[in-house]
Amino acid sequence: MPQPSPLSRRAMMIGASAVAAWVSAPARALLAQGPAVPNSHNARIEDLIARMSVEEKAGQVTIMAAAWAGGAANALNPSSGAKSSFRDQLAEVRRGRLGGVFNGNGAEMARQMQTIAVRQSRLKIPLLFAADIIHGFRTIFPMPLAEAGSFDPDLAERTARVAAVEASSAGIDWTFAPMVDIARDARWGRGIEGAGEDVLLGRLMADARVRGFQGRSGLDASDAVAACAKHFAAYGAGEGGLDYNSVDVSERTLREIYFPPFEAALDAGAASVMASFNELSGIPATANPWLLTDVLRREWKFNGLVVSDYTADFELIDHGFAADEREATRLAFLAGVDMSMQSGFYLRHLPGLVKDGEVPMARLDEAVRRVLSLKARLGLFDDPFRRIDPAREKERVRTPDHLALARDAARRSIVLLKNKGDLLPLPRSGKRIALIGPFVQGQRELIGPWNVYGTDADAVDLLTGVRAAVSDPSLVTAVDGTGIETPIAGGIDAAVAAARAADIVILAVGESQKMSGEAQSRTDITIPPAQMALAEAVAKTGKPIVVLLRHGRALALHGAIKQAPAILATWFLGSMSGPATADILFGLTNPSARLPVSFPHESGQAPYYYAHKNTGRPNPPGPLKEYKAHYREAPNAALYPFGHGLTYGKISYGGLDLGSGKLTGDGELKATATIRNTGRYEAVEVVQLYVRDIAASLTRPVRELKAFQRIALKPGETKQVSFILKREDLSFLGNDFRPIAEPGAFQLWIAPSAEAEGVSGTFRLT
Ligand code: NOJ
Repeated sequence: MPQPSPLSRRAMMIGASAVAAWVSAPARALLAQGPAVPNSHNARIEDLIARMSVEEKAGQVTIMAAAWAGGAANALNPSSGAKSSFRDQLAEVRRGRLGGVFNGNGAEMARQMQTIAVRQSRLKIPLLFAADIIHGFRTIFPMPLAEAGSFDPDLAERTARVAAVEASSAGIDWTFAPMVDIARDARWGRGIEGAGEDVLLGRLMADARVRGFQGRSGLDASDAVAACAKHFAAYGAGEGGLDYNSVDVSERTLREIYFPPFEAALDAGAASVMASFNELSGIPATANPWLLTDVLRREWKFNGLVVSDYTADFELIDHGFAADEREATRLAFLAGVDMSMQSGFYLRHLPGLVKDGEVPMARLDEAVRRVLSLKARLGLFDDPFRRIDPAREKERVRTPDHLALARDAARRSIVLLKNKGDLLPLPRSGKRIALIGPFVQGQRELIGPWNVYGTDADAVDLLTGVRAAVSDPSLVTAVDGTGIETPIAGGIDAAVAAARAADIVILAVGESQKMSGEAQSRTDITIPPAQMALAEAVAKTGKPIVVLLRHGRALALHGAIKQAPAILATWFLGSMSGPATADILFGLTNPSARLPVSFPHESGQAPYYYAHKNTGRPNPPGPLKEYKAHYREAPNAALYPFGHGLTYGKISYGGLDLGSGKLTGDGELKATATIRNTGRYEAVEVVQLYVRDIAASLTRPVRELKAFQRIALKPGETKQVSFILKREDLSFLGNDFRPIAEPGAFQLWIAPSAEAEGVSGTFRLT
């Protein structure tokens, strides 16, 4: 199996984060097989399995959307078309035909269901309550992709911790998060849920989020929720960036790019894994024994629970992989999916399949054991109501501390892409400011996709944030100018008038919440035409413009937006969106985030990412000018590359020192650069170390991020930043998929982005 590179272990420690000490692969195996379940529960679990009927076992491995208070449509069974009411679901619980429910409605619902499970069902097995807690519960944090831009795993751990504290207070035991899919195609709308294009950043964020959700004092803590690393695997590699589409990538790409964040999540102790919707080279992940059993169980020794995605077993029929429900059930179950979400297939077909000898009872017992073990680890056998407390549910959500963290996380997720002429930060007094665009006011389009429990109504908008930050709020005006995709009659005229009457324009444009997230693929990653028309008209006034982008993905920027002197990537920032943005605009906080995804020039460049291969005909042109790997209409270099982000300070890189320039045997190479802040403001710089293996037995990317450090620099301050490289840090997976480090020359950069030169030099591995 690919060993987690020690390089990234060190990166975790080098970075400013407080990510816990690394757990080695052998230790992981021990953890996976070891005392995951309290010993006292093993006998109880075995006793229950011995007493369960095959129907009760099939019920235990079934989870359904909660049908609370009219949510019956949610509890639709896709194959039968049947809808179940809450009353129907309670009856199923009483009969032992449900292992858990998800996306329910808080502590009171959970209390009613759990009471029936533990008092009225035959075996009194508690239910599991699961939910999609993607970036906060009631306090909403920046969308995970934005938060990854903080390059601060410690922050991600803290926001996941708060999300778990809030969610667990409402009865939730298990979150379907984190999503750890690497996303290199901005057309794919679900990139918002992950950590972007880079493997190292993806691993660090996966690790942090799992630790945050699960807490550090055991899964049985009343404020811990079990994590679920999803979607296994390569869900982000759908052809054409189309959600749910087929994936055809090599085993090498899986092991080098898509698997490592899953390994990091499991190393961090993730209790469960969700199989993905997509097929992998002809075999749907949900029915893929190589993926779910050979790799996950045998190589990685994962002994936790594998859950299907929503109706993914049913979808094996549409994939053309199973002829009917029964075959779909058998294929998914035998491949390694322990629990079926929402189709009801396991409940309907496992008893018959076991009776007819097509599924061994031992396999069913194994899956049931995993469900019961998770319940035991979560402390549900000791106290099924440990997370169900309506009073706590009210007290623990949206506390001042949580909202303060939401504001801090939002500030640390905003990327300053451009700041020509030092337009930013803005003065807090004496200027008339026009806020223009469909994202400047009103409690909408703030929290972003995938929020089951948060609402925009709880979030603070830009106008409120800006008015609170300036000394005279009456100097701030706001006008929408256009809808997101549809013009407003007279909107542009009103916007132009507002711009003319102002000293500074803040133009907030971008994508609606609905344009990213699940099933929201785009062919065109630009800003909709109605807003472009607004931007062009406002730009003609000649007023200085600060562009605030609202977006769920990397965008291709054009025209007046691209030309604006100042541009900030403000994603979907959550509950404290407006105040956090104002903090950055007026310099109360320095921008410190970096892009977790590269911005191309044009949509047609997707998939677009920095760690690509050089090809035999790389750009820029040398000889054979034209016959190079390039597009006619756009440069190969990013508009804004991965890792890019400015501060209000002025940072310079110098003085690279590579010691002897050799890394020999078990030795190490120390790479040091001098980082200087020559500006007038304090700055946080994310110093990035990239490496390129110049010639190897398998081609290597043009650059790979190997480590980074967040450092603070006062005006005029200089710091030496050092990284230590070891042989393992330069390894890659050889032809047999074992790590090898090949002697030869390497290029190294210590730089402020994946394309910036920073300081660079070469060294040799001998
Ligand atoms: C489908 C999504 O792909 C998955 O991420 C989510 O957890 C389930 N729906 C349940 O809501």
